[in-house]
Formats: sequence, C-alpha cells, structure tokens
Amino acid sequence: MSAPNKSYDPVEVEALKPENIERMRDEALAAFAAADSLEALQEAKTAHAGGTSPLSLANREIGALPPQAKAEAGKRVGQARGAVNKALAARQAELEAERDARVLVEESVDVTLPHDRVPAGARHPLTTMMERVADVFVSMGYEIAEGPEVEAEWFNFDALNFGPDHPARQMQDTFFVEGPKGPGGTDGGSGVVLRTHTSPVQARALLDREPPVYVVCPGRVYRTDELDATHTPVFHQIELLAVDEGLTMADLKGTLDHMVQSLFGADMKTRLRPNFFPFTEPSAEMDMLCYVCRGESVGNPDRPCRTCSSEGWIELGGCGMVNPRVLTACGVDPEKYSGFAFGFGIERMLMFRHNVEDMRDMVEGDVRFTRPFGMEI
Ligand code: PHE
Repeated sequence: MSAPNKSYDPVEVEALKPENIERMRDEALAAFAAADSLEALQEAKTAHAGGTSPLSLANREIGALPPQAKAEAGKRVGQARGAVNKALAARQAELEAERDARVLVEESVDVTLPHDRVPAGARHPLTTMMERVADVFVSMGYEIAEGPEVEAEWFNFDALNFGPDHPARQMQDTFFVEGPKGPGGTDGGSGVVLRTHTSPVQARALLDREPPVYVVCPGRVYRTDELDATHTPVFHQIELLAVDEGLTMADLKGTLDHMVQSLFGADMKTRLRPNFFPFTEPSAEMDMLCYVCRGESVGNPDRPCRTCSSEGWIELGGCGMVNPRVLTACGVDPEKYSGFAFGFGIERMLMFRHNVEDMRDMVEGDVRFTRPFGMEI
C-alpha cells in the first residue's frame, strides 16, 4: 500500500491504472459469464468480487490517495465494481432460474408411476375369522389349546372312542403318515396320521389339565378330499370343550346361542338335531338360524334365500355331551364330571358369512381375494 501524505500521482499506483481496473472488471465479467453452475459462480464471486479480489484490493488503495486523486480513482473503481456486482447478480439470477427449471423437471412426481413401497398386507380372512370365534370364548374365560397336526392315531381316534374298524380310520378318508407297528411296537400299536379333526385336542387338553377344563382349539385339519368348490384336503376347524361338575346339554345350547349371537347378532339362535359321534353321547348336529333371512324365507316363495336355500337354518357342525368313555380314557372321573364339546369348519362359515362361492379362492393365495376383507388386525 502506498504511504499517505506523499505527493501522489494515481497513475503510479499500478492497481488503480485505468487499464488495470478495466482488465479486472473484464476478467470478472468473463469469469461470471463462464460460470456454468451456482457453485462455479460462487467461486468466481470470491475471486472477483470478494474482500481479497483485485478490485477490492484496488479500492483499498484509494484511501491513501491525495484528496484530488481520490475522486477520480473512486469513480473509476466504483463504476467497475458496480458493473461487476450487476453482472454477478444477473448471472446469479440466470443460474438460479436454470436450476429451478431443472429441479422442476427432475424432481417432479409422476403420480401415475407404480409405487415402490411394500404394500401393507391383509390378513387371511380364515385367520381373522378363527380368531374372532376364539375371542368370543376367550372373553368368557376359555383358554386356547393347541395340538399337533401330525397326530398319533391314538389321540385322533382311540381316545375318542372310535372302534378299530371305524370307517374314518380307512386310508380313503385319512392321511396316514405311518401305519401302526402293532401292539408290541414302540408306538404302542398306534399309527401316525394327519389329524382329521381338532377333537384330539380335547383328549390332550384333558390329559394336560385338572378339571374344570374350558378350552377352545382352533387349527388346521386334513382329509383325503379332492380340492373343488366345496372341498379341500386341508381346512380349519374350531373345537370347544368344557368339562366341569354338573354341566348339561342346556349349558351346551346356551353356549352355542351365545356364540352365534356374538358373531351374527342378538336375535340369532341355534337348534340341535340328533346325530352320532363316537366321542359324544348324546350327539347332535347344530344348525344356526340363517343370518341372512332370519328364517323368513321358509314357506315364502316371494322371498327366496340363497344362503340357506330357503331352509331357514344353516348347518354349522357337530356337538354333544362328552362321552364318559373319553373322560375315562383321559383320566377324568365321569361320575364326578361331565362335559360338552362342539366343532365346526371355518371355511364353511366363511363361505356363507361372506358369500364365498368357491373354496379354492381361500387356498390359492391370490391377494385379490384377501384384500377386500380389509386390514383387520
Ligand atoms: N370332530 C367332529 C367333526 O370333525 C365335530 C365334533 C366336535 C362333534 C366336537 C362333536 C363334538 O365332524
């Protein structure tokens, strides 16, 4: 920097020479014009308009000039800096506009594109239905009990009072995993089957617990049926067992009524028709009032009902008082205790409750079937 108070010729100050100021200005303008991005412009700004840029340094020289030289140099530098700042602002605006236009294109959202999030799944309606039924009983104090799907023949049949020649034991009806090895074999004469119903859990529950026993057993069962609109070799049942002192058929009926009322509405009811199961005595077939026509289609040709074929009732499953032989086989004293049990298929219930016409829809795993049942948890 030049020393103050010296007799001073501005031309002597290299940095303030007009051609130098012009060059600094032109270099700045060229650098701004050449900057092709906001980052490059920022660099050019630091170099040509920042505190240590040649023009700023030149500007500082002015302070040391004698008064008569200050005005002229000040004007020259001021004009140059003005032009530089103007060019900088213009280029800045230009580059920002370019960037905004580019961002609009690059970051625009095409709402028609397929989304890339994993869609939330819907639970299978069989699962939700099974849980809904089980919940009716859990809220009454019943406990959920489970048993294996690959089951000892003894639990599936013998403990339930099926005679050795009962037709259900035939290969035509039951999937055998292993045949019986004979009375002397390690399995005590019992083969291994895929359980054909959830009733073996009755026997397991009684062997595991001391009465009173109140259990509900949802689960998968197997029968040698071909898959078609109304049959599937793998399906689901829900079983109920209550064993306590003094239980009667009235308790069974009251429990069934409570279940259908909880699931289908307060005016629902059930009816029992005589039937036979080896493990219940007496045994009954249980029907529920048709939840669509509430029985009003019966004898009323003007109001036919597809759900119950205008019969007014829908068959649900089997039930009865636990056969004393089953209690004995499971170590429960039939003189002291009595019990009731029932079991029914979940697929069937789903079919008539939701007008599902083909059981195959339930096993094929197509989400277009499950999704309309919603996101219930
Ligand atoms: N287990 C029987 C079936 O699969 C139903 C049933 C359960 C009957 C309990 C009576 C008692 O058909």
